[in-house]
Parts: sequence; structure tokens; C-alpha cells
Amino acid sequence: MLRHTTKSEEYIRKTFVHESEDHKRIAEALQADGKFGINVGPFEGHTLAFFIRLVRARTVVEVGTLYGYSTLWMARALPADGKIISLEKDESHHRRASELLKNVDVADKIDLRCGDAVELLNQITIKPDLIFIDANKPAYPAYLDWALKNISDQGLIIGDNTFLFGHLIGEDRGEGTSPKAMEAMTAFNKRAASESGFVATMIPTWEGMTLITRGA
Ligand code: SAH
Ligand code: DHB
Ligand code: MG
Repeated sequence: MLRHTTKSEEYIRKTFVHESEDHKRIAEALQADGKFGINVGPFEGHTLAFFIRLVRARTVVEVGTLYGYSTLWMARALPADGKIISLEKDESHHRRASELLKNVDVADKIDLRCGDAVELLNQITIKPDLIFIDANKPAYPAYLDWALKNISDQGLIIGDNTFLFGHLIGEDRGEGTSPKAMEAMTAFNKRAASESGFVATMIPTWEGMTLITRGA
């Protein structure tokens, strides 16, 4: 799969982003398995890490691990006693992520769990400082529901792909979608925009990244 980025994202990547050897190793594994491009890009990974530092996050919940590329970006930005729980339904993805992250410097901050994210979220009792939603698009409203109830007071909720591959901004990029995904992503952004006690905006990455925090 091809990874699309905007010229702005490319400029920011070249100027501000250092992709580690471990990140390159994970990217190569994704390439080898034809899954490269589903993961966030280096600019987006760096941006997630920046937000973790900005909100002084100690706990993160990620929905959708794939091979752990975004997980590693976030784990590296956490303090030494920080924790990221990352949820993945696909057993082979979960297994590959476990192998690829086993020997990284921040392995002890990473807790990979395998199963359906809606079920696994309901077993999490901490109030995370950052929640990154990046799994099956039709379930985004369900993930947002959990996130709005459980985000910490100073926390930040981030959703990836919130332009739904161009469909929500009237761009046909040749990537298909379903009425269910259209409805779900429309509802996700609409709820983010209107939920009482929260404020939201987006970063106009190629994929679209929605940001939600508490506020009047
Ligand atoms: N965050 C990753 C990319 C995740 S891709 C990165 O940027 O590196 C989306 C992942 O969500 C896929 O691995 C897919 O298997 C997983 N997924 C799909 N449906 C899911 C569900 N119901 N529960 C948990 N994970 C799911
Ligand atoms: C796909 C999923 C993603 O989360 C992403 O960032 C890019 C592509 C996909 O399912 O094709
Ligand atoms: Mg994504």
C-alpha cells in the first residue's frame, strides 16, 4: 500500500521528525506483509508523541495496534513510569506487534492486549490521559463513547482517519468505503463538535486527525 502525505506533512517530517531504527524495523515488517500505509506516518507518530508531552500524559489507551508503530511513538514520549495499553483484535497483528516491540528500550511501558476493543475497553478501569482511536471505522462512535466517559480531567482524545479517506471532504481518492463507515465517522466528528463539556478540532493531515479535550 502507498502512503499518502501532503507537502506540508513532508516538510514537517523532514524538518522536525527523527524516525528511530526500531520504527524503521517495524515499517519494514509492515512493508514485507503488504500492510505499510495502514500505520500512521512519521509526522503523525511524532505529533502523537508531542501531544503526550504537552498534556504530561502518564497513561495512554490505544485502539488498534497493528504492528505497534504508533504504540512505539507514544511509549517513547511517556515518562519512565508511564504505561500504554494497546488493543488489537487480529491475533496475527497482536503477535507481530509483541515480537517487534519485545526488545525495544521502552518495552516495560507497553501492555498489548488481544481481543475486540469494545470488550477490552470495558475491562479498563484507569482514566487515561490520552486515548488514540485508530481501529475499525464503523466502531468509532462506540470508542468515542468510552473515551468521553473515561478520559482524565486534563486528557486528550485523538481519532485518526477522521476525513474517512477523503469521503467526508468530498475527495474521491479511489478508496472505497461503506455507508456504515460514512455514518459512523460523520457521527464521530459531529459528537466531538457538540458534546457538552468538551471542545474539538482537527489537524488537516492527509487522513484527518480529530482532537477532543475538556472545555466549556
Ligand atoms: N495504530 C496503528 C494502526 C492500526 S490499523 C499504527 O498506526 O501503527 C487498525 C488496526 O485495528 C488493525 O490492526 C485491525 O486489525 C485493528 N482492529 C480492527 N477491528 C478491531 C476491533 N474490533 N478491536 C480491536 N482492534 C481492531
Ligand atoms: C487504513 C486504516 C488506517 O487506520 C489508516 O490510517 C490508513 C488506512 C485502512 O484500513 O486501509
Ligand atoms: Mg489510522
